[in-house]
Amino acid sequence: MARKRHDEPRAAEVANASAEPVREVDGRAREGEPEVDPALRPKTFDEYVGQRQVIDNLRVFVAAAKKRGEALDHILFSGPPGLGKTTLAHVIAEEMGTKLHSTSGPAIDHKGVLAGLLTSLGEGDVLFIDEVHRLSAVVEENLYPAMEDYKLDVFIGDGPHARALTMPLPRFTLLAATTRSGLLTSPLLNRFGYVASLRYYDEADLTSIVTRSSRLLGVTIAPEGASEIGRRARGTPRIANRLLKNVRDFADVHGDGRITRELADFALRRLEVDAAGLDALDHAFLRALIDRFDGGPVGIESLAASLGQERDTLENTVEPYLVQEGYVSRTPRGRIAAPRAYLHLGLQAPKPSSGGEGAGGGQQRLL
Ligand SMILES: Nc1ncnc2c1ncn2[C@@H]1O[C@H](COP(=O)(O)OP(=O)(O)OP(=O)(O)O)[C@@H](O)[C@H]1O
Ligand SMILES: [Mg+2]
Repeated sequence: MARKRHDEPRAAEVANASAEPVREVDGRAREGEPEVDPALRPKTFDEYVGQRQVIDNLRVFVAAAKKRGEALDHILFSGPPGLGKTTLAHVIAEEMGTKLHSTSGPAIDHKGVLAGLLTSLGEGDVLFIDEVHRLSAVVEENLYPAMEDYKLDVFIGDGPHARALTMPLPRFTLLAATTRSGLLTSPLLNRFGYVASLRYYDEADLTSIVTRSSRLLGVTIAPEGASEIGRRARGTPRIANRLLKNVRDFADVHGDGRITRELADFALRRLEVDAAGLDALDHAFLRALIDRFDGGPVGIESLAASLGQERDTLENTVEPYLVQEGYVSRTPRGRIAAPRAYLHLGLQAPKPSSGGEGAGGGQQRLL
């Protein structure tokens, strides 16, 4: 079966030692770093802010499964880093009142590991596989009968004496998360009863997240301070919580500990988060696209090389937000800077007629 697969770099591999822009406050969890505070992680549907449509559907599935006394159907969570996929898996296990066993695609490096995990599950338990797009083909194929028929084929012995044994498994729920649903094979995708696609959060939701986290952390924050952080958190709860933590430090050192709008603005500027929430890496990306590649179209590999970044970092954590916010468009010929990118950088967008797809050089400084 043809598979598109990438080995994604860990966060630590991405930061390079040169003067290239390094994202200080990105959406990814850093290796070895605990979440800002585990207490901030919502534990129930009621505490989980935003993603209304997904949450409403999940509430129905959970209520129906509980009513029938059955295990919940398998669910895939997809979306950019830091939007709450892992959190949601924990919330579901909590709401179902079941045990959650947590692992990740790369950790299941051969089918013996998978067999060990599956056979240790109890009736109705939840198995959470993070980064499910990184499962190997062999492991994935062994997962299919487990997901569909709750059975596992194991082979005992070697050569001519080998025997195939089918082991029954308890009825379990597979919850899986991916930042790259496009890399999943269709046989795997088709075996999930529901795919929950998480979207970037709006300002109001992020403001409530900042307000909630401030309350839990005992931070005094003005409503305008919370909305300033929420508005500049790149649509991502993990970033909102990290920024809150950073801004709190500025409030303690440069102020009286209270986070006002002015204090938040001062701190966010110091953190190189601009008024629209774009950071140094976003700026470098847009600058490279416009200055070095004349606004595009340009391939992602060329952009990655010119920025000294991994292609996956750009595709996973930088581009999705810039595309959703209308700074960049992705076309089959490559990435193109949209007029909003020029405007944001104080440049004049080229005339649409000048270069086919609306890109092409000739930008001039405004003012
Ligand atoms: N809906 C939400 N309401 C409140 N806080 C949230 C919400 N979603 C996420 N968070 C906060 O953001 C943090 C990051 O969320 P989480 O670890 O679930 O993201 P993720 O989608 O699994 O990211 P990754 O792709 O990097 O694994 C959580 O620890 C939690 O504090
Ligand atoms: Mg996660």
